[in-house]
Amino acid sequence: MKIIRSPKQMQKTAWRWRAAGRSVGLVPTMGCFHEGHLSLFRRARRENDIVVVSVFVNPAQFGPREDFAHYPRPWKRDRRLAGKCGVDVVFHPSAKALYAKGHQTWVDVEELSRPLCGAFRPGHFRGVATVVAKLFQLVQPARAYFGRKDFQQLRIVQKMAADLNFPVRVVPCPTVRERDGLAMSSRNAYLSAEQRRRAAGIPRALQSVGEVIKFSSQKPISPTVILRKARALLRRIPGARPDYVELVDPRSLRPLKKVAGRALVATAVRLGRARLIDNRLVGRE
Ligand code: PAF
Repeated sequence: MKIIRSPKQMQKTAWRWRAAGRSVGLVPTMGCFHEGHLSLFRRARRENDIVVVSVFVNPAQFGPREDFAHYPRPWKRDRRLAGKCGVDVVFHPSAKALYAKGHQTWVDVEELSRPLCGAFRPGHFRGVATVVAKLFQLVQPARAYFGRKDFQQLRIVQKMAADLNFPVRVVPCPTVRERDGLAMSSRNAYLSAEQRRRAAGIPRALQSVGEVIKFSSQKPISPTVILRKARALLRRIPGARPDYVELVDPRSLRPLKKVAGRALVATAVRLGRARLIDNRLVGRE
C-alpha cells in the first residue's frame, strides 16, 4: 500500500491510472476508522481496479467552537486497517498542501445545506462540498463511497457531483451499527461508558417513528403527531440535548407537512462532548 501526501503527485498518479483504463474507487474519510469505514473500503475493493482512501481532517468543515483540534488521529492504526482491507493508496495531505495560502474558492450547495445539521453548523457543508470537489479533481474516481449515516452530506455530494458535472458515481452505503443499534461514528469515542449505554436510546427513538407510521390507521399522518413520541424518548435520555429531530423529504430534505410515502427521520443529539447524528428511512415506498 502506498501513502501519497502531495496533491500534485496524487493527481499525476490518477492521470496515469486513467490513461491505462483502470477504474478508481475513492473513499473520502477523516480517519479514525471503524467498521463503517471498513465496509466502504471492502465495497470499493470489490467494484474497482484501484482503491484510494483519503485521510484528511478537513479544517474547513469545523466551526470555531467545534472539535477540530481534538478530533482523533490514530494514523498508524488507520494505515494498518486500510492495508488489511486491500486499499492501494492512502492519500494523506497536509492542510497547507490542500488549502494553499490565499485559498478563496468554495463550493456551496445552497438549498440542501440549509436544513437539519446545516442550521446548527454554519459553513460545515460548504467545507465538506469544497474538500470533496477537490478530492474528485485529484483522485478522478469512477466511483466514490459515502455512508447513509451522514445522509445530508450524501445528498449534498450527489447534488454537487451532478451540478458540477463530475464524471463520478456517488455510491450510497448502509449505516453500520453497534449491536445495540447505535450508528458507528468516530465521535462515539467521546462518550463515557454510561453515556455510551444511554446513546442506544437515539436509534430506538427513530425506530419508534417507523412504528408509529406503520401502525397508524390514519393516513397520511401529521409529522407533529409522529415526532411527538421520538422527542419524548430523546428527552428521556439523561444528559441528552437534541439539536433537532425532523421528518423530511429524502430528496429535497424539506420538512414534510404530511407523511404519505417514504420519509427520512433525522436527528442530531448532543450527549456529553459528542454530537451524534442518525437517521432512518420510514413509511411506505
Ligand atoms: O464524512 C466525513 O468523514 C467527511 O465529512 C468527509 C466526507 C471525508 C469530508 O471531509
